[in-house]
Amino acid sequence: MEYKIYINGKIFNEDEAKISVLDRGVICGDSIYEVFRSYDGRRIFLLDEHLERLKTSALYLRFNLPNTLEYIKDELERCVQEAGFKKTYIRLIITRGIGDINLDFTDAKRPSMIIIMKEFHPFPDEYYRNGIDLKIVSIRRNPIDSFNPGAKSGNYLNSALAYNEAKTSGFHDALLLNHQNFCTESSTSNFFFVQGDTLYTPSLDMGILSGITRNFIIRLAHDTKIPVQEGAFTRQDLSNADECFISSTLKEIMPVKSIDHEKEFLEIPGIVTRKLQDTFRNTVKKYYEGR
Ligand SMILES: Cc1ncc(COP(=O)(O)O)c(C=O)c1O
Repeated sequence: MEYKIYINGKIFNEDEAKISVLDRGVICGDSIYEVFRSYDGRRIFLLDEHLERLKTSALYLRFNLPNTLEYIKDELERCVQEAGFKKTYIRLIITRGIGDINLDFTDAKRPSMIIIMKEFHPFPDEYYRNGIDLKIVSIRRNPIDSFNPGAKSGNYLNSALAYNEAKTSGFHDALLLNHQNFCTESSTSNFFFVQGDTLYTPSLDMGILSGITRNFIIRLAHDTKIPVQEGAFTRQDLSNADECFISSTLKEIMPVKSIDHEKEFLEIPGIVTRKLQDTFRNTVKKYYEGR
C-alpha cells in the first residue's frame, strides 16, 4: 500500500515520515483526528463539516489547533492534489506535540499536524448486497461525563476492544451499549434502524460521535420526507425493527443483516435504506459534477 504523509508542512513517502517518540500522541494517545474522503482525488467531501468537528474535538481535549481552520483546509486540499491518488483516504491527525513524559498539558508547546493519505479502497461489495452482522459487545461506550465519545481523539482503544471482541466471535462489527443499556454506535460508525416509515438513531446524549455522515443522512431524510427520531433505544426496541444500517465517511450507508445472530433483517437493503443510499450517491455525484 502506498502512502503519502504530510508532517508540519512537508509531504514524505512512508519510509521518510518520522515524528518524535516523545510526541504526546505516541505517549498517551493525546491527539485528535478526522478521516475525510475525496471521491475524485482532488476535492474533499463535506470538508467544512469535518473541520468544524475537529474544532469541537480540540475543545474537548483543551487543545489549541496549530493553525487556523482556513490554513488547515488549504493544506488538506494541497496535499490531496499533490498526492495524486484516484480516490483518496485522508487522515488528519493533530497531536498535542512534544513534551516531557507526564500528564501536564502545558508541557507540550506546539501541536504537530500530520496528514496520512492513501488510495481509497471500498469495503467488499458483498457487505452492501447482503449486509453485515453486528454483535452487541460487553465493552460499553464511555459515559459522556468521562472522556466524552463526542471527541474524535487518537485514544481509540474502547472502539478497538469492541471491534476485536465482535471480530473474534465471528461478527463483522460491534454495537456498543452505554451504561444505561441504551444503544450508542458501532466501533467506527453510527447506528440507525427503521421501523415502518421512520428512521431512528441514538441521540448525541447517549454518548456517540456526532458523525458527519450521520448528520448528512438526517438532512437527506428530512429532504426526502422520511421521518427521523433521535432518542434512547434499548436492544428490545431493535426486535421490532424492519431495517438497520451503520454509517461513516468510509462506509457511507452499510446495511446490517443481523444483530447478535438473533435479530435478522429480511430485505437487504430495505426500502428506506435503499432510498437513502440512492439519495446519498446522487448528492455526491452532483457535488462532484457541480465543481
Ligand atoms: C466511533 C465512531 N462513530 C461514528 C463514526 C462515523 O463518523 P463519520 O460519519 O464522521 O465518518 C466514526 C468514524 O470514524 C467513529 O469512529
